[in-house]
Amino acid sequence: MNREQHTIELPAEQLAYMERVASLLSESYVVPPKACVTTYGCQQNVSDSERIQGMLVKMGYVLTDNMDEADFILYNTCAVRGHAEDRVWGNIGTIKNKKQKRPGLIAAVCGCMAQQESVAERIRRSYPYIDLVFGTHVLWRLPEFLYRRLSGGGRIFELSMEENRIVESLPVHRDGTLKGWLPIMYGCNNFCTYCIVPYVRGRERSREPDRILAEAEEMIAAGIKEITLLGQNVNSYGLDASFDLNFAGLLRRLNAFPGDFRIRFMTSHPKDCTLELLDAMRDCDKVCKHLHLPVQSGSDRILKLMNRRYTREDYLALVAAARERMPEITLTSDIIVGFPGETYEDFLQTLDLIREVEYSSLFTFIYSPREGTPAARMSDPISRAEKGRWFQQLLKAQEEISERLNQAMIGHTYQVLCDDTGRAPGYVAGHTSGNIVLEFPGVPQDIGSYFNVTVQELTNALYGAVIK
Ligand code: 5AD
Ligand code: SF4
Repeated sequence: MNREQHTIELPAEQLAYMERVASLLSESYVVPPKACVTTYGCQQNVSDSERIQGMLVKMGYVLTDNMDEADFILYNTCAVRGHAEDRVWGNIGTIKNKKQKRPGLIAAVCGCMAQQESVAERIRRSYPYIDLVFGTHVLWRLPEFLYRRLSGGGRIFELSMEENRIVESLPVHRDGTLKGWLPIMYGCNNFCTYCIVPYVRGRERSREPDRILAEAEEMIAAGIKEITLLGQNVNSYGLDASFDLNFAGLLRRLNAFPGDFRIRFMTSHPKDCTLELLDAMRDCDKVCKHLHLPVQSGSDRILKLMNRRYTREDYLALVAAARERMPEITLTSDIIVGFPGETYEDFLQTLDLIREVEYSSLFTFIYSPREGTPAARMSDPISRAEKGRWFQQLLKAQEEISERLNQAMIGHTYQVLCDDTGRAPGYVAGHTSGNIVLEFPGVPQDIGSYFNVTVQELTNALYGAVIK
């Protein structure tokens, strides 16, 4: 699918707005004003927020986690399930009070939820104290929006979708110094029937390889030890573009960089997960041996209704191909329980599939109807209570699997990147290549280094000892 697509630099106009905001702020505040960014949803949003924060810092804001002391509050929202949206509605309601206490406070809502017309309309009508509402396609115009509002302009609602554009060279303020997110593509073409993402994030657009490689080099030079490549479906990287590099090729290019770092990626759609990609994972020593491969359901009938475009058999063949190449690989998945029309028999096939695959962990969701998607118009006769019972059954089955896999790790040695303090004093924690957390004796200075850890016991966590 070759659409004309273009990459542009952050327009000079926006850089000029940044300077104007900076001078407005320095005139109005004696101490630098504070900005609080709250992020909901997936890593793509976290990554977007890092770019928003980058712009805010450039404009003179100091970042804070404390909303009560903030002069600018932004919610970067998620629309993937109703629950995520409900939390946002609750939180933006509190802005009214905050504005009374802190006149001059500016409040903004952006992200996937804000991209929807119906949401923007509700904010326009019922939340008059929200100043800026903008969608996922125009976050790079934040300097302009802020300038207009700070200099006395009206409320701003900007939902335009410039679907074939990627705006590069935004400043980034990364949340972590050890692990970093690296977006390689935006949007989704898959239109799974339950999913709102293609409507709010638009069509797939791949970043140019040179941009990704340059950003990775910067991250490595800054000491980042784990880079996670992001996209709704990283396996279709490059398919929309005129350059000749696919995801497997990109992994190989990144793997060739010198340095002491690891590469992860998410998310992989099974229909686009090729043997070429599995070969690249196997061959690339820096690529972690973990595959997040959402199956959603174990029933062919439901997979078809979901428009997933693979069968249970295809999926299991892919898992077998991955394990044949990388016996140590861990798998994780997303599962939706209670898709419209799903019967208990369909659900039992999902249970059966997770037992067959043996995922190390699962992200499990009860189906949530999303306005505008095909599934929201399908008949959905199973009660919420019934779906809740299936859901509990799924969690229990997965707990048993995880417990069994964890037990099987005892006595084996894994390389971990130490990334946190442990639960108990005198302990630290780290992730294996397969993304399993191990705890072991250590000091906070160990964070950022690699260790070989032999797993010794499983209690409330997996504990081990460092092998010298
Ligand atoms: N209801 C429940 N879960 C959903 N997901 C996406 N849309 C919905 C929905 N409408 C889940 C899928 C996807 C994950 C990110 O969120 O499992 O893989
Ligand atoms: Fe949604 Fe499917 Fe695209 Fe994932 S692949 S973002 S579930 S439409």
